[in-house]
Amino acid sequence: MATEEQDIQAVEAEHLLQVYKRVPIVLTRGKGSYVYDTEDRPYLDFLSGIGVASLGHAHPGLAAAVADQARTLLHTSNLYYHPFQGQLGRRLAALSGLPRAFFCNSGAEAVEGCLKFARRYWHTRGETARTRIVALERSFHGRTFGALSTTWEPRYRAPFEPLLEGVAFVSPTDPDALDTAVGSDVAAIILEPIQGEGGVWPLSPEFVAAVTAACERTGTLLIADEIQCGLGRTGAPFHSATVGLHPDLMALGKALGAGVPIGAILMSQDVADAISPGDHGTTYGGNLLACRAALVFLDAMEHGGLDRVRVAGTRLAAGLRALATRHPVITDVRGAGLMRGLEMTVEAATRVVDGALAHRLLVNRAAGRVVRMLPPLTVSDEEIDEGLQILDAVLGE
Ligand SMILES: Cc1ncc(COP(=O)(O)O)c(C=O)c1O
Repeated sequence: MATEEQDIQAVEAEHLLQVYKRVPIVLTRGKGSYVYDTEDRPYLDFLSGIGVASLGHAHPGLAAAVADQARTLLHTSNLYYHPFQGQLGRRLAALSGLPRAFFCNSGAEAVEGCLKFARRYWHTRGETARTRIVALERSFHGRTFGALSTTWEPRYRAPFEPLLEGVAFVSPTDPDALDTAVGSDVAAIILEPIQGEGGVWPLSPEFVAAVTAACERTGTLLIADEIQCGLGRTGAPFHSATVGLHPDLMALGKALGAGVPIGAILMSQDVADAISPGDHGTTYGGNLLACRAALVFLDAMEHGGLDRVRVAGTRLAAGLRALATRHPVITDVRGAGLMRGLEMTVEAATRVVDGALAHRLLVNRAAGRVVRMLPPLTVSDEEIDEGLQILDAVLGE
């Protein structure tokens, strides 16, 4: 007789579009930093659904707020006011210094909106030919057409060409190339302050300085994709501020709803002034449920959450560096806060991820050769130590 797990996998194999190579486990519940499979076996979750379950799983405060909201009013559309969008916009403005917000439903949608708003900004100013975008090699901004056009990995893009015209990719290790690429025909530079999917690569201070100089020289807008590295992940509200970048637009997603889908675009008043009613919109974006969840998340971050990430991130980094000294297969340790990557060969990274799964630790590979960790922002010291011990054992094997 087939197990519950086999039944679930079989129905997916028959009826779902096969675009995901899933890890062959079925997860049915979670608590804190652990998720549980159909046999109720716990897995230490060092990925948090790719940086989404920011408050861990089944967070009591979030669960209560979501349940209360479901009983009260879930959705109104953007035809009407509701109490939470303005509150959330105000809170994000205070954290980012960007006074205006547009809410959407995912990271890719936030990137898409940023690209549209950058184009609209120059169009409104009469510079209708100023449409080019400079993006970075190793970038990942999402899978919709605009976001995909600015995503580096050629194998993601090639089957869907032609994409958005006028996107140039620059190496994030070549400040001079950036300087050359950014002229007065470029609408915006888009970058991740720490490249996530590309292999957990922080931008160098030299590259950050080149971005700032290019934007000052030409007036080009800066779009920071903080979808993975922002919202507390590195111990600060946004990583752009930590590295000294001053974006005109910011794309947010992932951690913001702590598991409830929500994305956001934050922007300067100058950008907002260029946009008119009807230029953009969404049915679901910023509904009561999603905004309420995001407010719970921000409360947690502002009441000790960020301090916790800094302490936990330091502990994780120290532990990973210690692993690198013991296991020469690790050739680099990168990241900040609770966004970390261990570089090794593709083969070693595959074996480490599989070995960790066998020990019921969830990590994954970014860019093939980097073992990536994005634990919940609420992860405890004991859980970090447990994860490090498992990695040590797996690396030893
Ligand atoms: C930096 C970055 N931008 C954009 C995206 C796309 O977000 P979503 O998958 O919510 O569309 C991701 C997702 O991994 C990301 O890491």
